[in-house]
Amino acid sequence: MAKPMKLLGIAGSLSAVSRNRAVLKTVQEHLPVAIELEVFDLKDVPLYDPALDREVSPAPVAALKRAIETADAVIIASPEYNYGMPGVLKNALDWASRPAYRSPLKDKPVGMLTVSPASTGGVRAQRDLKYVLTGTLSQLVPHREVAIAGAGDKIQDGRLVDEQALAAAIGMVGEVVAFVGDRRCASRAA
Ligand SMILES: Cc1cc2nc3c(=O)[nH]c(=O)nc-3n(C[C@H](O)[C@H](O)[C@H](O)COP(=O)(O)O)c2cc1C
Repeated sequence: MAKPMKLLGIAGSLSAVSRNRAVLKTVQEHLPVAIELEVFDLKDVPLYDPALDREVSPAPVAALKRAIETADAVIIASPEYNYGMPGVLKNALDWASRPAYRSPLKDKPVGMLTVSPASTGGVRAQRDLKYVLTGTLSQLVPHREVAIAGAGDKIQDGRLVDEQALAAAIGMVGEVVAFVGDRRCASRAA
C-alpha cells in the first residue's frame, strides 16, 4: 500500500474567523483518507528574535519546524495585507528558514492560495510569497494560481461553500500531491 501523504496547512492569519483557515479546513474535509492535512496555528509563534534563535528554539517554533520537517509538503493559504503577505506569515517563514539554506523549508514542496473579500483574491501576496520561498530554497510546486475573490459570500459558518472555488483549491492540493508522488517515484528509481 502507498505511504500516506502528510500535508501541513499554514494560514497566514491569526483571526479566529479567518477565511483562509476556513478554506484549509474545508479542503481538509474533502481529501481522500490517504492524504492527511494538518492545519498549524501560528498564534503562539513569537516574533523572530535572534536572541531566541538558539539550538533549542522556543516551543511553538520547534513545533512549527518539526511540523514542516515531517510533512511531505506545505500548503499556504494567505490573506493579502497591503499588497504583500501578512507579517505573521513572514515571521513564521523567517523562523522556519533557520538555519539558513539547511532549514526545514529547504527543498520542501509548497503550494499556495490566497483568499480575500476583494475582487483580486489577494493574488499580490502570492508574488511576495513566491519570492520569499525562493530565498528559503523551497520547491515551489508549479500549479494554477488559486486566488479566491469575493470571499465574503463564499465562506459561511467557517466553511468554503462556493463549489468552483473549492474545486480550484482541491485541484491545487492535487497538483502538490502529484508533485510529491513524482518525487517519491524518482527517488525510488535513483
Ligand atoms: C492590515 C490589512 C491590510 C489589508 N490589505 C488588503 C489588501 O491589500 N488586499 C486585499 O485583498 N485585502 C486586504 N485586506 C483584507 C483582508 O484580505 C481580509 O481581511 C481577509 O479576510 C483576511 O484574511 P483572513 O480572513 O484569513 O484573516 C487587509 C486587511 C488588513 C487587516
